[in-house]
Amino acid sequence: MPIPVRARDLKDKKQRGEKIAMLTAYDANMARLLDRAGVDALLVGDSLGMVVLGYQTTVAVTLDAMIHHTAAVARGTTRALVVADMPFLTYQANVAEAVHNARRLIQEGGAAAIKLEGGHAVIDVVTRLVDVGVPVMGHLGLLPQSVHQVGGFVRQATNERDADTLLADALALEQAGAFSIVLEAIPSEVARTVTNELAIPTIGIGAGPDCDGQVLVSSDMLGLFDGHVPSFVKQYAHLNETVVSAAQSYIEDVKAGRYARPASTVTGAPTA
Ligand code: KIV
Repeated sequence: MPIPVRARDLKDKKQRGEKIAMLTAYDANMARLLDRAGVDALLVGDSLGMVVLGYQTTVAVTLDAMIHHTAAVARGTTRALVVADMPFLTYQANVAEAVHNARRLIQEGGAAAIKLEGGHAVIDVVTRLVDVGVPVMGHLGLLPQSVHQVGGFVRQATNERDADTLLADALALEQAGAFSIVLEAIPSEVARTVTNELAIPTIGIGAGPDCDGQVLVSSDMLGLFDGHVPSFVKQYAHLNETVVSAAQSYIEDVKAGRYARPASTVTGAPTA
């Protein structure tokens, strides 16, 4: 049995100068494959809403949906750190509600850490969660849950004032006890400054080469998502084409009467 990665291990990696590889997962099978590949951490992101559930944004994702998918990912994972996103407005109303909802992601979903978006607005929540033993990953820069306020999925911290605010937020999150921070869609120079100023690791997504690690949406980097893929994503496969072509071959076989072999005796565990 492999030794599970803990939140603390990511901080140690930064100290040793080792990069952190993180990917999203939403189900047990993908979690099993990515865990077997050796990722350090699996994020059950609320990108679930767009990638799996067919919404235009992450805003509609509920806590129950996150718990359901986090539990599946946790069942498929033996080594990677499983981090679950707290969905929109499940941690902003007050600290008690945030603690209650984080408890559900950890106890019912099996997450080992939670991630939440924002800086100064969530510092009280982060402080309390860390105080009661919940490892917290921050998320700054482009905050997809604020898409209606920001007016779209646009690059952030592009002027000096916003870059200074982002750095202040990052330092406040570190001070509050966050064990790492995702930096999404910000200029490389800003990500480099934040990374150099912090003792905790930064995990970039569209934030240049100088973060302590990277997270990507797995279906984007595998070429599986059949929608818009951000321009910064490097695609390592084009699985959507593989799926379409395999399904077309299957359809041809069925139409020609070339069915799968008849079951012999016992066929193993059911797959559906
Ligand atoms: O929900 C998600 O997948 C995320 C990543 C894009 C960082 O928050």
